[in-house]
Amino acid sequence: MNYWDYIKVEELLRLQSGLRSDDSEVNNDETLFIVVHQIYELWFKLVIRELDQACSLFDQKPVPDMALAQATKSFRRISTIFDQAISHFAVMETLSTRDYLGFRDSLIGASGFQSAQLREIEIILGLDEGQRISLGVEGSYKDALKAMDGSSSPALARVQRRLTQKASLRTLIYRWLARTPVADGSPIEFLERFLDGHAQEVEARIISVSEKMQLPEADLELWRARYQRDFANTRKFLLAEDDSTLEGFTKEERIHVRAALVFLESYRDLPRLAWPREALDALLEMEQKMIIWRQRHARMVERVIGRRTGTGGSAGVDYLDQTALRYRVFGDVWAVRTVLLKRESVPTIANADDFRFRIQDE
Ligand code: HEM
Repeated sequence: MNYWDYIKVEELLRLQSGLRSDDSEVNNDETLFIVVHQIYELWFKLVIRELDQACSLFDQKPVPDMALAQATKSFRRISTIFDQAISHFAVMETLSTRDYLGFRDSLIGASGFQSAQLREIEIILGLDEGQRISLGVEGSYKDALKAMDGSSSPALARVQRRLTQKASLRTLIYRWLARTPVADGSPIEFLERFLDGHAQEVEARIISVSEKMQLPEADLELWRARYQRDFANTRKFLLAEDDSTLEGFTKEERIHVRAALVFLESYRDLPRLAWPREALDALLEMEQKMIIWRQRHARMVERVIGRRTGTGGSAGVDYLDQTALRYRVFGDVWAVRTVLLKRESVPTIANADDFRFRIQDE
């Protein structure tokens, strides 16, 4: 065996010709453009494999501790991939607006919007179809994946195959959380005690504002109203009385998901919570990196083409900024950050021993 046969170097190096029959006819700017996109598609391929594996791991009942460790590793690997991929945009930015305009018109109709693998990633993660931002010209992102004559394409087939998959990572993770045992009593009882801690924090905060800031009564009233509104929102969120829905989950299960998240985050020091907590941290970090990737892509695009219409026909930077702002999959994992308490306010739990490691007596 040798390196070039294993890596398929010659085959790989023949793939950068774009619209020409030979890459000697493509200038360096366009070659850079093609290479960076190709590298991305390879990174996306790895991301999809890791996500598929994570889905299989979470698709077990119960999810074994070792599966959590493995899934955490996958999420961390994906985060690292996105970190590296984000840095490729700096190479892309060595392309000036004028360099890009030199070949851009020949690409009209083609766009990263047609990256079937990015759509696969979104589908595996569990992005709500209703949440998608329309491109403006096509009926849906699937229409953009059709061939020029309106027939199907390998890209569309790839996405359609994905849409038939059993459950997204989001569903699997939320199902797992809905089964996670929480502290003594039912999830609602646990949350009610947690909310008592909130009420005390709110009271203490209002007193502290009034003592430290010496505000006129009208301003103090504004602060008080804001804290009380926060408290009301916290209650709504934790008891699943907010507007958010989770397809396939009952209200009771949504409450359990939120109780489990609060529990895992609030009692981080309990040893048996270590892997679930690590897995959630890694999951959140992975989504954070994807959001940063979207934001970074938008800034790169703004630098290279300004705010003109994209080759795919979207509003360009405005469309991309919207995706960065609105495409969130693990909303509850993010939202729980808003409602966590400081260590002293977290209620003590009677069954803490159930979540410690036990060393058997000789
Ligand atoms: C000079 C370089 C680039 C420019 C000017 C550019 C521009 C754009 C624009 C305007 C869009 C919005 C859709 C449209 O109307 O076309 C878009 C989408 C997209 N681009 Fe780029 N892009 C560049 C490089 C890249 C690179 C290197 C990648 C790497 C994968 C990439 C991946 C994507 C993806 C995946 C989308 C779809 C995003 C979504 O729908 O959420 N782009 N790009």
